[in-house]
Amino acid sequence: MNIRPRRNRKSAAIRAMVEETKIGSEHLIYPLFLKDGSNIKEEIHSLPKNYRWSLDRLLPEIEECMKLGIMTYDLFPAVDENLKDKIASYSYSEDNFYLKAIRKIKETFPELVLMSDVAMDPYSSDGHDGLVENGQIVNDATLPILNKMAIAQAQAGIDIIGPSDMMDGRVGSIREALDLAGYTDVSIMSYTAKYASAFYGPFRDALNSAPKSGDKKTYQMNPANKREALLEAQLDFEEGADMLMVKPALAYLDVVHLIKEHFSIPITAYNVSGECAMVYAAAEKGWLNYDIAVGEILLSMRRAGADAILTYFAKDFARLIATK
Ligand code: PBG
Repeated sequence: MNIRPRRNRKSAAIRAMVEETKIGSEHLIYPLFLKDGSNIKEEIHSLPKNYRWSLDRLLPEIEECMKLGIMTYDLFPAVDENLKDKIASYSYSEDNFYLKAIRKIKETFPELVLMSDVAMDPYSSDGHDGLVENGQIVNDATLPILNKMAIAQAQAGIDIIGPSDMMDGRVGSIREALDLAGYTDVSIMSYTAKYASAFYGPFRDALNSAPKSGDKKTYQMNPANKREALLEAQLDFEEGADMLMVKPALAYLDVVHLIKEHFSIPITAYNVSGECAMVYAAAEKGWLNYDIAVGEILLSMRRAGADAILTYFAKDFARLIATK
């Protein structure tokens, strides 16, 4: 035998020397759920270790996570049912607690990167990402609503807009609206290949944002399709996205890889709620080693080509590597 791959694995030092993929806390984006009020830290039953936070409790949490090296946070609002309506008007209203929180967080920690969610579902009485008319999700009439939402978030000081709605043309529409309003420095990380997935279940529990009727298959992608992801990526790229996201991540690593090969802007993978919930549940039962499984999962996303990873594991993983 001339070639014995095991020689390059014979000690920890050699293994480290030839390690191909690195992952650090700088690659992590931590999704956080925000609720109006004070002194709230409610655990999400289908997503243990994750909470709905009121702003006063969230600020020290962010500070703790920053000490672990996490610098980017994606905020999602859990909105009271009686503030929801057909047109998601609370999403851009003056007294929106989410917009106030963005302002306060950026004021308190100007060095961190804040990302938002742009879609109607947390604010919509229909629970859909777009406007519902006669049972249909209408594309073009949704765009001005998304624009207003994005501008309100930019005004509040957001660094990165995250359109998660999958309407056609929304990246270009939001880019133009932001630029016209003078927010040329606000970035867009578009949810490019977002599949209609069962793995969003715990997230919808967290925000109580599940569709009131029907499903999201007329706008989110068919899990069977891969080439279509290239079309979505091409459109978002041409419309001015700064970064492209694939979501979910774990069951779609081939798509992460494909988009990374074809586009020269950063690619992010969203390790969604259901993917994390499976690991929490198995670890709780003692069926796998949580720390090792999490490391392996996040590494798989980096290896597939993700530059950054949105994950509910962010804090645990950052703590793990900080203490290693
Ligand atoms: C809503 C949105 C969803 C997620 C992020 N933004 C859910 C959905 O499309 O129904 C899912 C994130 C997760 O499951 O962690 N536009």
